[in-house]
Parts: sequence; C-alpha cells; structure tokens
Amino acid sequence: MKALVLIGGFGTRLRPVTYSVPKQLIPIAGKPMLYHVLDLLPPDVEEVVLATGYKADLIDAYVRAHPPRWPVRTVPEAEPLGTGGGMRNAGDGMSDPFFLLNSDVIAAADLSALARRQSTTGGIGAMALAEVDDTRPYGVAALAEDDRITGFVEKPEPEAAPSHWINAGLAVWRREVLDRIPDGRPSSFEQEVVPYLLDRGLYGFRLFGFWDDAGTPDRLLRSQRLLFDAGRGGKGGLPPGASGNGPVATMSGATAQGASFGKYVTLGPGAVVEPGAHVENSVLMDGVRVEREAVVAGSILGPQSRVRAGRRISGQVLGERAEG
Ligand code: GTP
Repeated sequence: MKALVLIGGFGTRLRPVTYSVPKQLIPIAGKPMLYHVLDLLPPDVEEVVLATGYKADLIDAYVRAHPPRWPVRTVPEAEPLGTGGGMRNAGDGMSDPFFLLNSDVIAAADLSALARRQSTTGGIGAMALAEVDDTRPYGVAALAEDDRITGFVEKPEPEAAPSHWINAGLAVWRREVLDRIPDGRPSSFEQEVVPYLLDRGLYGFRLFGFWDDAGTPDRLLRSQRLLFDAGRGGKGGLPPGASGNGPVATMSGATAQGASFGKYVTLGPGAVVEPGAHVENSVLMDGVRVEREAVVAGSILGPQSRVRAGRRISGQVLGERAEG
C-alpha cells in the first residue's frame, strides 16, 4: 500500500511560528510532528506521497535531508486546494486501497489493523476514530451497531453530537474515492465528498490508545507530553551538565550546561540554554537562546528566538527571531 499525507495547510492556529515554518516541521518530543505521524505507517508501505502546499519547498528540503524509511515523493499545489483538491492533485498512481493521513495528529494506532478493517468489511473505507470529551472542534461520527459510520456532524454543539467518536485523521480508502473529488478546484474531502461515500460502507476503527491533534499551542504541548509518556521521545535524559527532571529531547548541537529542566522539553538543533536558566513543558526550535537566569514554561519558541536574561515567560508562542 501507499500512503497519501495531507500537509498543505497554513497552520494558522500556530502563528507566529508558522509564518516561517510549516507546523509539521515543528519538533515535538525530539522530532518534527510529521515524523511522528509517519512512524505509524507499517514498514512495508511502498511509497509515501506528501500533498504539500504552504511552504512546500521547506518540507521538500527537510525530507530530502532526513529521509524517512519509506521512499517519499512530494506533490506541491500551486494554490491551496483544500483536503479534497490536495488528494486529487497528489493522487496519481495511488495504490488501491491507500492510507490517508493528516500530518498533525499524534496517536497510538495500529494502521495494519486499520487496513484489515477495510479489507474484511469490503467497504469503501475504514476511518480511525478517537474518543474526545469536547467534540466541538471536530467531525463527529454517528455509528451503527457494527461501527459502520452512518453520518458525520461537523463541529457540533455538545447536545447535537451523535457520539464522542471523531475523525482521527487516519484512514484507509479505496482508490476510487479520488475520482469522486471535484477536479481543478479547492474542496473539503470531509465535507463535500465523504458524506456521499457513506452508502458504500465506511467503517469506524476505534482507537483506544492516546490520540491528539497537535494543531494549537496547548494541544501541541499536550501532544509532546503524551509522546514522552508513551516512550516515543527518545531516551529523554537531561542534556550534559544540566540538572532537574526531564524528559528532555536534545537534538543535534543543542547545549544546556548549568541549566535546569522540568518535565517535557524539546531542545531543537543548536538551541542554547544558558547557565542558571530553567525550561519546562516547552519546545525550543533551532537556534533558540534562553539567556542566564531566564525561565521558560509552557511555551513554543520559534527558530532563532531569544529570551533575555532574567525574564520569565509562560504560555507564549514566539515567532522566528522574536524576543521574549
Ligand atoms: P489551521 O490553519 O491552524 O486550521 O491548520 P491547517 O491549515 O493545517 O488546517 P487543518 O488542521 O484543518 O488541516 C487538516 C490537515 O489537512 C492538515 O494535515 C493540513 O496540513 C491539511 N490541509 C489543510 N488544507 C490543505 C490544503 O489546502 N492542501 C493540502 N494538501 N493539505 C491541506
């Protein structure tokens, strides 16, 4: 099977970081969000096709420099085509069936079992469903007794939600769905196409491990905590010469001699935390500098940003080269 990964969105909810970096390249628990999604794919996947758009050149350069275990091809959109248009644009030569993945979800999910769910039911698709308390930001599935999906309600108020099971952004589809997507114009696959495929048999596949959508600052940091707690943040020890708790994922060239840490931190490539500074529950992207005696908590610091000596920041998102 091949996999089609949607990676063309603007990531507006993670601005200002996403003004310069596509959200899928923001490192969490030691590697870019995109690579945590790819980790879910079975090893025998034949090819991964990335349907890119916004900042496609940066994604292309990154995957060339850091090749995943599967052959990867990027197919950029000249203009944003939405999820449907992006699938159609990148869908030439897709396998039947194929995996369809959003690039901003983190999960414990057995995608081989998801593929078996599609093949044993013989339906047009199988969709992973995650259980959430607050269904308002999501597409919520109505389910029959055999977990066949009978409908979706987009972003419902709680009383209108047919269940607590939402589209988890991981699915297997028969190739023919690509022909049902309008050609040459932007479209939403979930809203304009999926409702018309339900009579062909779309089956839910309930996830019982962790799941999150890392598309907002709070949820990105929560995703990082989940990944670390699941042991998916590498060794997670402290960087040399640092004190405190960890887990800390230290990427290449990052240093933190004499600094202290609380739980759940990613130090991006070349990040520097100076002596006496303290960082917890945060992501520091490439080349970030946290100066002496500064304190950083619950924050995402964009590339080359800097926190001045002695400052304390909490709950902030800093763009590239910004100062906190
Ligand atoms: P926000 O702007 O913060 O809502 O983020 P987003 O642009 O990523 O939107 P959203 O999280 O709703 O997108 C879900 C998935 O679809 C993500 O993996 C996006 O990268 C992807 N996506 C959204 N729009 C497009 C598009 O126009 N083309 C392609 N190829 N992918 C898209």
